[in-house]
Amino acid sequence: MVQAKKIKNWVVLGTGGTIAGTAASASDHTGYTAAQLGVAQLMAALPDVDQVLGGDRLQVEQVAQLDSKDMGHATWQALAQRCQHWLAQPDVGGIVVTHGTDTLEETAWFLQQVLPSAKPVVLTCAMRPATALAPDGPQNLLDALTVARHPQAQGVLAVCAGRIHCARDVQKVHPYRLDAFSSGEAGPQGWVEQGQVRWSGPCQATEPHAHAPQALAQAPADWPWVDVLHSHAGADARQVHALVAAGVKGLVLAGTGNGTVHQSLLTALNEAQAHGVVVRLVTRCAEGQIVGQPAALQLAPLGLNAFKARVSLMLDLMA
Ligand code: SIN
Repeated sequence: MVQAKKIKNWVVLGTGGTIAGTAASASDHTGYTAAQLGVAQLMAALPDVDQVLGGDRLQVEQVAQLDSKDMGHATWQALAQRCQHWLAQPDVGGIVVTHGTDTLEETAWFLQQVLPSAKPVVLTCAMRPATALAPDGPQNLLDALTVARHPQAQGVLAVCAGRIHCARDVQKVHPYRLDAFSSGEAGPQGWVEQGQVRWSGPCQATEPHAHAPQALAQAPADWPWVDVLHSHAGADARQVHALVAAGVKGLVLAGTGNGTVHQSLLTALNEAQAHGVVVRLVTRCAEGQIVGQPAALQLAPLGLNAFKARVSLMLDLMA
């Protein structure tokens, strides 16, 4: 007897972004408003989705509707809670999240840190609004669904312009072109070509951060305040003094080159540490990570960029 295929559910969570944006004119790629169309509308307009689903079911939910420049901790928590809910359903195979491109890498890293990685959560986006003459969102969405359904997919991934990136490495590197993301020296995790996934290597299973339960439950208003500073010519220590006086709990310093820090900032940061502020150092260079030197300050882990290091330090400091 032929066994009936087990029907799976795939979930698409909408959070807004350019992928859901509209413009007055089809040729306008910059003067649009992000987060105007619901994720159900985006899915309804998608051709060939039944073909990609292969008889499986799709569940669609609007978690937020915003321009991702305005992403905040409350939305992150709500999104993580909905992911946690759906991933716990045995019949759910994985999740696709539609997201703005501007802070996608930060959301990806936050989700990677707080969710179990056995099933995939695939973030996707667009650089052109949905009303453009040739929008990129529909293809990215189909590709993201294809990746989520691939048996080797796990953890948090991002899919844009035919390339698959892992949460740790993905970074927006261009303000306008369609292929706006890069995984830097690591290279992409894979590609989606004509509906087929080609991996460059296995997806890494990772353990959630020890404080993931706090991030999922603790009121976001009570999350520790962690901010990002840059070392640069003419850097002024007054910004450090102001942040410490205002109650900052953690600071990520994007240092120059191989983790060097302007002397005026270094003095102020050492004073901040003496007051209990936790400081972590990354490089402001677009590629690579700090190598070899006894750094002036403690390094952030994993060679993260400043904005992902901020997420990790915030989680570290959650009591
Ligand atoms: C956003 O990040 O929400 C707007 C920009 C974009 O999605 O490309």
